[in-house]
Amino acid sequence: MSSTESCGHPPVNTAKKRLVVLISGRGSNMNSLLAATRSGQINGEIVAVVSNRADAEGLRVAASQGIATAVVDHRAHPSREEFDRALYQVVDAMQPDFVILAGFMRILTPHFVTPLTGRLINIHPSLLPKYPGLDTHRRALDAGDTEAGATVHFVTQELDGGPAIIQARVPVLAGDTPDTLAARVLGVEHAIYCEAVRLLCDGSIRYSQQGQVLLDGNPLPESGILFSER
Ligand code: GRF
Repeated sequence: MSSTESCGHPPVNTAKKRLVVLISGRGSNMNSLLAATRSGQINGEIVAVVSNRADAEGLRVAASQGIATAVVDHRAHPSREEFDRALYQVVDAMQPDFVILAGFMRILTPHFVTPLTGRLINIHPSLLPKYPGLDTHRRALDAGDTEAGATVHFVTQELDGGPAIIQARVPVLAGDTPDTLAARVLGVEHAIYCEAVRLLCDGSIRYSQQGQVLLDGNPLPESGILFSER
């Protein structure tokens, strides 16, 4: 009997999943994922953090915690496609089970997305399908929304348009500015990204060939799991 089998039960793959995190800036989501892997909450290991910007604050944070880092500078490549090919080569060489976009501020082409379909996820600071793209908090405030939030989703060719894994809502409060709302949303971002990656690494969440998100084999609703803090 191998270490992944147990008497009378289907084999469970207990090997830690290899995670590569892509960032462009501060890296607070990356850092909370790192804490969750190290505490054992996530059955995975961040094997590297990759950025398109050498000056990304999150790279320093990762390196200071002993995580391998790499830079693929988009300005060193003549086109988006060539950047994506170079980025894919670097990431693929790290043999990731999952690739996690955490504040990675580049639009990705099929050269990167297609070979990683079902293994590439992103977090977006809005209640998708509302407000794909930039400036989500100002747009929510301008629209007079009473709720905002964040969504973790599988990445497809459509910008911020792939199927949702999990979503969390927060209230919009009187007097909110884009900054105060962003800070409230960021708190739930950290929680839902850890939960999504935990479920992925456990094998509870997967992407079907039909492009659906399955939780324990059952399709999720369009907005994914509705997160509630325990
Ligand atoms: C987060 O709000 C994330 O949703 C968005 O970019 C921000 C990154 O923040 N895509 P951090 O770098 O993880 O602190």
